[in-house]
Amino acid sequence: MITAGAELDDITVRQIVKRDFPFLHSCHYLDSASVCPCPRPTVEAMTSFYYEHPLNYGVGDFGKSREVVRKVDEARATVAGFIGASSHEIAFTKNTTEAINTVSRGLVWKKGEGIVLTKLEHQSNVIPWLREAKQDDLTVFYLEPGQDGRVTPDDLEKVMKNHSIRMVAVTHVSNVLGTIQDVSALVKVAKQGGALTLIDAAQSGGRIPFEVSAIGCDFATFCGRKALMGPQGTGFLYARGDWLGKLMPLTVGSRSGNIVNQLDYQDQEPPHRFEAGILNTSGVIGLGESIKYLMELKLEEVTQRIRSLARLLVDVLCDIKGVTVHSPRTVEEQAGIVSWNIRGFAPRVVSDWLDKEASVAVATGHQGSKLLTQAFSTDGVVRTSVHWFNTSDDISALAEGLRRFLSSKR
Ligand SMILES: Cc1ncc(COP(=O)(O)O)c(C=O)c1O
Repeated sequence: MITAGAELDDITVRQIVKRDFPFLHSCHYLDSASVCPCPRPTVEAMTSFYYEHPLNYGVGDFGKSREVVRKVDEARATVAGFIGASSHEIAFTKNTTEAINTVSRGLVWKKGEGIVLTKLEHQSNVIPWLREAKQDDLTVFYLEPGQDGRVTPDDLEKVMKNHSIRMVAVTHVSNVLGTIQDVSALVKVAKQGGALTLIDAAQSGGRIPFEVSAIGCDFATFCGRKALMGPQGTGFLYARGDWLGKLMPLTVGSRSGNIVNQLDYQDQEPPHRFEAGILNTSGVIGLGESIKYLMELKLEEVTQRIRSLARLLVDVLCDIKGVTVHSPRTVEEQAGIVSWNIRGFAPRVVSDWLDKEASVAVATGHQGSKLLTQAFSTDGVVRTSVHWFNTSDDISALAEGLRRFLSSKR
């Protein structure tokens, strides 16, 4: 078995991929920022759930149903441990968007309060706040990233000094540029100004370490299916301390509360009050397995490998005449997501060609981040993203494919 602490070079990775990721045998997959395949142990854990105890979490008083409770509780502890949190600070959600809405809807807003976002945000970390702003007459401010694809604590401080800011909600890793924000510094400034903080960790979770005590944020939102390699339809919200007891639940009903009388009900204790109805039980169990898998690989090694692949990717792209790379050239603060355009060609034309002629899978368009990408091109960008399971073969296939594409169009 190739497991814990195996040094992640191309040879080892090829062996692991051969064993655990059948999907990756079918193409050069450079779209991990959208979705990642689940490793074999995750699929096996979910299959075993359906074969051996396909039961509701927390309902039923027999041995097999208690086994399900044990597995879900274990998954929650794994998720919490992964980011240095406690189980009672984690609520499972169906994705990042739901986790962000749980916070934006769960707070009671006062007219005139301010929200700070950045121009790097995915629309899932914009629209929920705009809705509250429209409804409760709040003001939304945007921080502009510099040439290095990062916003600065100084710019945040300027906004905080002049306005009454209640929430600072920023992405950890840009889903377009791959740049890593200095979230600890931003949180520090926000806290000094008395604001709450939410970190959108949809892209960072599984790419780089996320330690809640080091960052100090009040909320963080995660996506299961991206770099955490969990099942689709999974995500989670971290809410510091007793925040899950203070937010208003987004959805209420079965399992989130109890009827007191015909006119009243009581919410359950957190985190259950945020998990109304029956949970995506197999998904949550699968997510726990995927995170265990990542921990066995060692996240520091994963981060290191992503960084060297990103270096190769940026160098290769910058070497091809006609390609404009939007992600910064220095990859030290980069988490493996690189966006670019080819002068004179719509991104979709490039991706279709790469798919058909070179078996290279990339993403195109605005990536839900139009506030950023519209400056690059009206059609958006081509986005290539690497995870630890990629090898230099994938990047060579991209480079070779692009050269053939360009010479075929001459
Ligand atoms: C930075 C970022 N935030 C939020 C989201 C939305 O994630 P989800 O589909 O899990 O709701 C995405 C999805 O691409 C993203 O990249």
